[in-house]
Amino acid sequence: MRRILVTSALPNANGAIHLGHLFEHILTDIWVRFQRMMGNECYYVCADDAHGTATMLAAERLGTTAEAMIESLRAEHADEFGRFHVDHDNYYSTHSAENERLTRAIYERLAEDGRTFTADVEQLYDPERKLFLADRFVKGTCPRCGADDQYGDNCQVCGATYDATELGNPRSTLSDNTPELRSSDHYFFDLAQFTDFLREWTASDAVQPEVANKLGEWLTGGLKAWDISRDGPYFGFTIPGTEGKYFYVWMDAPVGYMASFENLCDRTEGLDPDDFWRADSDAEVHHFIGKDIINFHCLFWPAVLRGAGHRTPTKVHTHGFVTVDGAKMSKSRGTFINASTYLEHLDPEYLRYYFATKLAANTDDVDIQLDDFVQRVNSDLVGKVVNIASRCAGFIHRGFDGVLAEGMHDEELWAAASNARHELADLYERGDVGRAVRQITALADRTNQYIAEHEPWKHVNDPERRDEVQGVCSLGINVFRTLVVYLKPILPAMAAKAEAFLKVEPLAWEDAAEPLVAHGVDRFKPLFTRIDRKDVDKVVAATVAEAETADDGNAGSPEVRIDDFGKIDLRIAKVLDANFVDGADKLLELRLDLGDNQRTVFAGVREAYDPNALVGRLVVVVANLAPRKMRFGTSEGMVLAAGPGGEDIFLLSPDEGAEPGMRVT
Ligand code: 2FM
Ligand code: ZN
Repeated sequence: MRRILVTSALPNANGAIHLGHLFEHILTDIWVRFQRMMGNECYYVCADDAHGTATMLAAERLGTTAEAMIESLRAEHADEFGRFHVDHDNYYSTHSAENERLTRAIYERLAEDGRTFTADVEQLYDPERKLFLADRFVKGTCPRCGADDQYGDNCQVCGATYDATELGNPRSTLSDNTPELRSSDHYFFDLAQFTDFLREWTASDAVQPEVANKLGEWLTGGLKAWDISRDGPYFGFTIPGTEGKYFYVWMDAPVGYMASFENLCDRTEGLDPDDFWRADSDAEVHHFIGKDIINFHCLFWPAVLRGAGHRTPTKVHTHGFVTVDGAKMSKSRGTFINASTYLEHLDPEYLRYYFATKLAANTDDVDIQLDDFVQRVNSDLVGKVVNIASRCAGFIHRGFDGVLAEGMHDEELWAAASNARHELADLYERGDVGRAVRQITALADRTNQYIAEHEPWKHVNDPERRDEVQGVCSLGINVFRTLVVYLKPILPAMAAKAEAFLKVEPLAWEDAAEPLVAHGVDRFKPLFTRIDRKDVDKVVAATVAEAETADDGNAGSPEVRIDDFGKIDLRIAKVLDANFVDGADKLLELRLDLGDNQRTVFAGVREAYDPNALVGRLVVVVANLAPRKMRFGTSEGMVLAAGPGGEDIFLLSPDEGAEPGMRVT
């Protein structure tokens, strides 16, 4: 039995889960479920990637703390993945005690062994916001083609890549001010020391051939040292032995894989993280990622692990980007679809199935065509696979009390279905799932044809041909059962319903080796309904509507219509009680009186207000905000405040005369 640890890339904790995340997590989950069906011990962990300037600024804009924001997003992300049947054993956060300890330990080991150094770096600094500007927070004129309004790392017009300091007329997108050049000490990981090791590692089968080629180009060009520090203010972990220096988010993010697994081990009897991460471990570690982050996973991460005395990944499985109807996902076209929007209208297994039909072991982009999506699910899955069971089960019940025949009516067809398990297992293992689905569909075609040739509906009442009818329909159900085995990694909910119909224990891969004979099955209930194209259109329309009202996270806020604003129920509330929250250094727990009801609200005002001073005060509350589950409890609203954050937050307090429960207009 293999022992396998699997990860998907960690979604950023500053936005919703969308089709791109779902593609990666579903394809990972399919691989994980396949391994478990093969009897391997397979753990699948993930987390939200919580750190960075973007998180800090997003929390500020929302008037909350980074901790509160990331925890509520983490819960939302975990819930949405779960609803798509993505079976993470742990969905954690990189902002965890385990991750802080592991990241520091790794860094200290690298520093002790001379793998790091410091150097002065000049960067653009926003004096008003008092922070160094990451590339996405600077805009200016492209140094190559002169195009205006280009971001600090590359030009959308001519494609040039450059340093933000090279932009003409730079301005901060946060304050619109002209930034100044400032220098500060940065910490670097000396990647070039690992060149020989990386040459060897990338030439092993740890990466796909096209990824090895790309890495080969970088290795030949010479590896540059990697800047692993950022100056405060920054939402992240401080670097030991420094003042105001933080680990760059990409330093602690992959360590988050280890931290999430360690957290799982702490809760799981007999599971030891060291068995998976020590240098001579014989367990396997598999990372699933998109091709935009191969430098982090196939250069930095293996080198960091190697330098810190850990094992390196067994394999990094890289996939391409998701496009929709041939184009990049777009909010305005309604194709930048969020998980929550999809779930309002469509069954998650439709998407799992469609993604599976598209999966290959290469890094080509994967195009979702909405018409094809409807067609594949309706005609292949419902029309071919599920159809076998629905057409056979009735006859088995009508004439034979629901009991399957003793033998295989067509040994050749049975052998084809059963023996397919070997090749299909190879395809799943390699990630060639699309090809596996095509073979499964071909088996379904062959079986439907076999049933059609034997026309059980014509002979069911002919006493002479009773055995044949039972034999044909029993074989149909047996082939169907093998197809359920083969599709189970993709369609776990459908498989569970099929197992109930077949009256069998949860199916494992090897169950396809033997047929069910003289076995009673249940009456057939539909396992899957067809997609209605109108529901797909509703998802697209809802996505367009969301885009019209969304805040894109950049400077300024989008306009909202008066009817949107009218949906917000603002009320006066009186603070009845205010308390510190254990483990949250920015939050206070407020008990509020809204006239006809009382609420608990967590507010990010701890640095600005002493809790005792708040008791008795009137505040303004968003009373119809959907309750948000947080680590500390559920927040049932939001109090309004103004200010840049920290100590400078000012609760909005109405004049005397206002009463709890009054509507704010
Ligand atoms: O690209 C991203 O969205 C990153 N948050 C992925 C991190 S993967 C891992 F290294 F943590
Ligand atoms: Zn340009």
